[in-house]
Amino acid sequence: MYINLSGLNILVTGASKGIGKAIATKLAEAGATIAIHYNKNVREAENLAHILGNESSVFQADLSTKDGAIKLFEQVVGRFGSVEILVNNAGIAVSSPIESSDDDWLSIWNETVNVNLTASALLCKKAVNHFLERKAAGRIINITSRAVHRGDTAEYIAYGASKAGMSSLVKTIARAYGKNGIKAFNVAPGFVRTDMAKTFITEYGENYAVNDLALDRLTEPKDIAPLVTFLASGMADHSTGATFDLNAGSYVR
Ligand SMILES: NC(=O)c1ccc[n+]([C@@H]2O[C@H](COP(=O)([O-])OP(=O)(O)OC[C@H]3O[C@@H](n4cnc5c(N)ncnc54)[C@H](OP(=O)(O)O)[C@@H]3O)[C@@H](O)[C@H]2O)c1
Repeated sequence: MYINLSGLNILVTGASKGIGKAIATKLAEAGATIAIHYNKNVREAENLAHILGNESSVFQADLSTKDGAIKLFEQVVGRFGSVEILVNNAGIAVSSPIESSDDDWLSIWNETVNVNLTASALLCKKAVNHFLERKAAGRIINITSRAVHRGDTAEYIAYGASKAGMSSLVKTIARAYGKNGIKAFNVAPGFVRTDMAKTFITEYGENYAVNDLALDRLTEPKDIAPLVTFLASGMADHSTGATFDLNAGSYVR
């Protein structure tokens, strides 16, 4: 099967490392021009733009801020002229024990919801309006989590809730705007070996994660990217609104 995404501009948030970097790489291999979003890792983002080519460019935005997502989308459209696909991948997972003070717990809750859910929602809003204004087809792919379906550990209660919100965004958009040519999908990974996972591994140990799997090794970012590329291609458009599990058999629904 041959996937050709040339001529498409794709915004991938959190593309400076981990899953986002792998997704951006695979999409660019298929010919797309990538808006490589990053927050702090400017050097990794710029190196990636150099490697990807296709006139891919970097865009900085702190998605925990009020206008970070809005300005990001406007800058990408300003530079590229249009966006055909949005991949909401940037995210944080911050441990927050239930025994911590109410203020500390709420602070982590707010930060998690701002980055994972509110910024993704604003980017979805901007993207849907952009697709409607252009009367053009568009696709949105949200990187959610297995936690949407099976919950998370107690310290990551905010993370699971934020990802469940992202999942709902996709379902509503798919059902509300399908006749306008807009499709939306959720990709729900289990444990993936990235910097985010390192924190968890330090806390719980690698065995905890591996013992949970049906397969014999932890999922790597490169295991996520092909599915996202397939969804971006349009070949799965009649699955709009669906959630695709990618969790090495650790949670089979
Ligand atoms: N790893 C897993 O086990 C796993 C499992 C299920 C779902 N996921 C989801 O997959 C996505 C990618 O995770 P990952 O494991 O690849 O994480 P990662 O390696 O920690 O990368 C996170 C990315 O998000 C960006 N980011 C973090 N805080 C940000 C902020 N305030 N504003 C803007 N960007 C910010 C980072 O940008 P900079 O580095 O430039 O600051 C980085 O590009 C996340 O949504 C995560 O929830 C991961």
